Amino acid sequence: MTEGVAHGQLAGLDQIDGVGRDGVRGGYSRHLWNDSDMQLRSWFVERAEQLGLAIEYDRNANIWAWWGAPGDDAIVTGSHLDSVPGGGAFDGPLGVVSALEAVAALKRDGFAPSRPFAILVFAEEEGSRFGVACLGSALMAGAISPDRVRALVDAEGQSYADAARRVGFDAAHIGRDEESLRRIGLFLELHVEQGRGLIELGSATAIASSILAHGRWTLTFRGQGNHAGATLMTDRDDPMVTAARAVLEIREAALAAPGARATVGRISAVPGGSNVIASTVTMTLDARAGSDDETRDLVADIAQRVGASEFEENSWSPEVAFDADLAARLQAALGGVPALPSGAGHDAGVLAAAVPTGMIFVRNPTGISHAPQEFAELDDCLEGIEALVTVLKGLL
Ligand code: GLV
Ligand code: MN
Ligand code: MN
Ligand code: MN
Repeated sequence: MTEGVAHGQLAGLDQIDGVGRDGVRGGYSRHLWNDSDMQLRSWFVERAEQLGLAIEYDRNANIWAWWGAPGDDAIVTGSHLDSVPGGGAFDGPLGVVSALEAVAALKRDGFAPSRPFAILVFAEEEGSRFGVACLGSALMAGAISPDRVRALVDAEGQSYADAARRVGFDAAHIGRDEESLRRIGLFLELHVEQGRGLIELGSATAIASSILAHGRWTLTFRGQGNHAGATLMTDRDDPMVTAARAVLEIREAALAAPGARATVGRISAVPGGSNVIASTVTMTLDARAGSDDETRDLVADIAQRVGASEFEENSWSPEVAFDADLAARLQAALGGVPALPSGAGHDAGVLAAAVPTGMIFVRNPTGISHAPQEFAELDDCLEGIEALVTVLKGLL
């Protein structure tokens, strides 16, 4: 098993292997507009230009690379370059590298598209910097308010608008982008599979059938900050204890709801001294289930069980059923590959509300994702790219 090492992988993954390595967590920490994200963006622009593609930036910080003249009703493929903290090498970059490889292969074959075609790289898919996932696609589709996005703050307290200004991007014009939506006739995202679905099916590739409904919440538990030595155990109002019980209740609630998943991925105490009983504990909740109602019911059950002082919704992504016509065309073109539901969210899922979208998954032999052990064998990646090329030839 590799530790997020892409060496010996597709050339594009090898080229960016050193970018954004996280020496503390392992894997990569590539977040919107940090140094590594900026390096990856430049790398993409350079690679696309080497292939003769023309670069455009849209009003939501997404990058487009056009083969031929930009136009409406284009075939568009791509993914994202950012990662979760300590993420793997494949979640996102595999789709971008595969799109570049597919163009190179089509050009080698002397193929010329008969309709507009672009590669699209979305900004901040993971939501690791500003807490809300799929910012680039959600802004484009009008699924999130631009005012809210401008005001989002990162861990250092820097707002999206200020962070944008620092890298020379003007956040004044973010928001629903009719021009880009008109341009996307169809969006295809190739992505590493993030669970054990393809291992169990014994297949190198699949298409996506649906995405679980999912969202993110922040739970706050308040108590009385106090001295760790002078305060008797019977005389405490310790929110850390309430929070610990809440973590267990969250697990119980998800286990009681078929197919549901609930995760507390981050927890922090204020003031955070080892000899101080905390006054406030906050935790993140990521909750997902097969349908909107099931997910809402799960979160209502959790809210009732944990008794948090505050329970705030940060983002909500309804269940996605991918375009059935496109799915049938993908399956026909790919010789009847299996269809898999996705437990992970994707820009293709956000865009599905506005334009036809589809996804091709590539097997992950570790079954692990959002961690350094995420992996895909070179042969499986090549099969995924071949699938993408086949599909693009049929569409272009
Ligand atoms: C993104 O990868 C998500 O599903 O959290
Ligand atoms: Mn992804
Ligand atoms: Mn991800
Ligand atoms: Mn994702």
